[in-house]
Amino acid sequence: MLRRAKISVIGAGNIGGECARSIAMKELGDVVLLDIPNKDKPELHMPKGKALDLACCGPVENFDAKITGTFDYKDIEGSDVIIVTAGVPRKPGQSRDDLVQINAGIVKNVAENIKKYAPNAIVIVVSNPLDAMVYVMWKVTGFPAHRVMGQAGALDVARYKTFLAMELGVSVEDIQGLLLGGHGDDMVPLPRLTSVNGIPVSDLLPAEVIQKCVDRAKVGGGEIVKLMGTSAWYAPSAGTIEMVEAIVRDKKRVIASAVYCENEFGVAKANGGKGLFVGVPAVLGAKGVERIISFKMNDVEQKFMDESISHVKDLIGATIKLFPDLA
Ligand code: LAC
Repeated sequence: MLRRAKISVIGAGNIGGECARSIAMKELGDVVLLDIPNKDKPELHMPKGKALDLACCGPVENFDAKITGTFDYKDIEGSDVIIVTAGVPRKPGQSRDDLVQINAGIVKNVAENIKKYAPNAIVIVVSNPLDAMVYVMWKVTGFPAHRVMGQAGALDVARYKTFLAMELGVSVEDIQGLLLGGHGDDMVPLPRLTSVNGIPVSDLLPAEVIQKCVDRAKVGGGEIVKLMGTSAWYAPSAGTIEMVEAIVRDKKRVIASAVYCENEFGVAKANGGKGLFVGVPAVLGAKGVERIISFKMNDVEQKFMDESISHVKDLIGATIKLFPDLA
């Protein structure tokens, strides 16, 4: 029997709400928006309120999507895709890594509930510190690695392309580019593979301007935290929805995503022989992560990648220190 996809969003904050809105606008499926009750104001039901507000966009935006708000994990039963945005966002002066203390416990609890209520779902983690939180999700659910991934590359690449388009004075649609590695300030730039409709960007911009765009993408999240006092949500949601759409419509899109790598990009070699979740180009379709697209990096790129892997390794180490059962 044909039916709409069921997409649950755990965490109905700024990113969760924006994801729910985009899912409805693009008619990717029905949405369940889940959050926890507000202890100080038990009379409120924020996810229900947000869901109702969003549902009322339907007649104006012309979408058909059932949007439900809930505190109850039972409502995520039968989800095809689950987006996890639960956790605290950054405050000015905080790095993504500073969030591990609080968010590891939150994501662990979310993962236990996903395992219990939606054991067949494909999970996209958005909570920070991203690469370590994807590890927590995978470890706790015990899901096969192709059904657990993290959103970071889609956002980082979007920021990189935006800054390049501003410098070049051309449409963002005509920029192709990639950034790999962890979702930290040591993400791996690949200007060698950046082009404007196939024309190498190095032919069009001086090296220092390209580097400026790379550097700005690396700290792009922090630039916004400084301006708003909290983390970004529009572009992180857009990146997440790019991944959801690739899965729900079985598009086989190639999107930089935090996925489980072993020998790809020298991950196991740089991580004591073990696999790790880190940002690489992945083919996303109905089965989740259907394939990793590997290619040979040059020595400089591989050095950046190794540094990024080592950072992710340390973050996972810090997470395991908090929760030894996650080892
Ligand atoms: C950012 C957060 C969401 O990069 O990680 O904006």
